[in-house]
Amino acid sequence: MKKDFIALTDFSSDELTGMLDLADRIKQSPQEFDSALKGKTLGMIFNKKSTRTRISFQVGMFQLGGMGLFLGPEDLQLARGETISDTGKVLSRFLDGIMIRTFSHSDVLDLAKYATVPVINGLTDFNHPCQALADIMTLREKFGTLEGLKLAYVGDSNNVAVSLLFACVKFGLHISLVSPKGYTITKEALEMSREEAGSKNLNVVLTENVQEGVSGADVVYTDVWASMGQEEERQQRLKDLAAYSINDQVMRWAGPKAVFMHCLPAHRSEEVSSSVIDGPGSIVFDQAENRLHLQKAVMVSLMQ
Ligand code: CP
Ligand code: NVA
Repeated sequence: MKKDFIALTDFSSDELTGMLDLADRIKQSPQEFDSALKGKTLGMIFNKKSTRTRISFQVGMFQLGGMGLFLGPEDLQLARGETISDTGKVLSRFLDGIMIRTFSHSDVLDLAKYATVPVINGLTDFNHPCQALADIMTLREKFGTLEGLKLAYVGDSNNVAVSLLFACVKFGLHISLVSPKGYTITKEALEMSREEAGSKNLNVVLTENVQEGVSGADVVYTDVWASMGQEEERQQRLKDLAAYSINDQVMRWAGPKAVFMHCLPAHRSEEVSSSVIDGPGSIVFDQAENRLHLQKAVMVSLMQ
């Protein structure tokens, strides 16, 4: 049976830990894996912009002995109305895997339903699992252990926040989601992780108060205030979220050992100050690098 990579909730903690362990091995000895996907091709459908996801998947496939095929928003007959189901069935006759970044999460679920090759979610309006798993890999490197850490996510509880919630619950981290009214995490996402969080005694705290939310956090995480597709709401969002910017004061509330994370791209002086993102506690470029190693592990796990 083919396996897709669409949401972290589709996997057990052990399966995800296996992917992290493989990612660590790939990072340490990339040459051992240089033929792991020899002769295989990953189609990469992008209906939104990307720097990290696009380059890391394409380079990752190359380093594994295969190749990535970039398919932009205007490249496929999808843009002229060909159905997702026909596209999925046809692409499966040519490709060994499909990565897709798009707007509607249900399009990814549909693609996975009709494709007979693995489908990897490279971000939807709902979630961003590759990012969150790479972030957990980064935290394991920095802290040595994951269980019991506290992550405070501050700002718009968007697609990145949803996958972080899922990741924290899978790996035993407590999480505070700090957002004003109107920007809180979806009920659907909370529901999807509630039972597992409860059974593991993990705190999943929703608060509007930044000081309360970040207090005692090992990790302070934020993301842009207007995600791709929300450009028209940008001015309103800047106003609504202005009090949720991560600056030196917020990092002091978290404590001296707290690290700062951001999936990037970042807007300095909006969701984060330069002093924080360019400061000594920032691990944003380690996060970005680990996208490559982690996604290579995901592709080997699914496509070999
Ligand atoms: N973090 C992330 O997914 O970046 P890109 O949008 O550049 O791919
Ligand atoms: N929340 C952002 C993440 C970009 C990687 C967006 O969807 O635009």
